[in-house]
Amino acid sequence: MSSNPGRAKPAQNADYALLKQQAASLIEDETDFIANAANFAALLYHGIPRINWAGFYFPSGDGLVLGPFNGRPACTRLPRGRGVCGAAFISGETVVVDDVDRFADHIVCDTASRSEIVIPLKSGSITVGVFDVDSAELARFTPEDQHGLEALVSAFAEHVAFPEALMRPDHSSSEEQFADIELCRHQHAELRTILDAIATAPVPPRDTLVRLRQKLNAHSELEDGRVYPLLRACANEVVRHKAERGVRELGGLREELDALIDSWGIDAIPSSDTIAWQREWGAFQRAMEARMIFEDHDLFCAAQADLRR
Ligand code: SME
Repeated sequence: MSSNPGRAKPAQNADYALLKQQAASLIEDETDFIANAANFAALLYHGIPRINWAGFYFPSGDGLVLGPFNGRPACTRLPRGRGVCGAAFISGETVVVDDVDRFADHIVCDTASRSEIVIPLKSGSITVGVFDVDSAELARFTPEDQHGLEALVSAFAEHVAFPEALMRPDHSSSEEQFADIELCRHQHAELRTILDAIATAPVPPRDTLVRLRQKLNAHSELEDGRVYPLLRACANEVVRHKAERGVRELGGLREELDALIDSWGIDAIPSSDTIAWQREWGAFQRAMEARMIFEDHDLFCAAQADLRR
């Protein structure tokens, strides 16, 4: 039984002025960004009443990735522009959601959360992340909370040294992504020329195989290292699924080339084996061609159409 029925204490709000002092003293002598972000999230989580989550999301790939936080484990990645966090990140404005069920694009990490506030984290004019606070109460965040949190987040941004990677986010602009895809198409044309040169040679031509391996490595750095991760995290479901299909069905060609070179030796092969060599080479070339056709005429078209929208 409650010891004091009918005399519940009125719910207190956070003391934002005190939190600001505490945040400053936690951060001022430390230069490590992760340590400061982690302490900031912990301070706010414990200092703001009636919340169930407080933490950062930072740009990564084509969307946002979870940063230091307090609360239950949360969604690790949020696709570009999606959710309350994506809306705050893209607009650079604070987003307050009184009832998450009425915010169509809300991303559920914890079904207990009913209201949410997301404040963009800025370094000068660059938005370098967001700070997200959730509550299990409807309409928990008042204008007082908004002002208090905005002041805290901007004080945090002023005091910390942001990592280079956040200042030059690897979430490239649409134009850069479009240009990367164009570069992949161009590299495909170069690869085709080398593949054809090898196919028409009677025995494996060492120099050309070495050149192919170098070109394929550079191509894979761009395509597998940059382009595919962006497309696999794309907000557009069609692009995402096509990229997954590409990885699932058409991946591993670099390793196949290595295996082919290893098994045949890169120098000379006996001329009696040339038919077997050409058969194996033909299979590899067809697999390369299938992948490039899929990318040039299907995946990249869908991705570039989406980027043009
Ligand atoms: N609800 C957020 C996702 C992050 S979690 O709440 C921690 C959103 O819609 O962006």
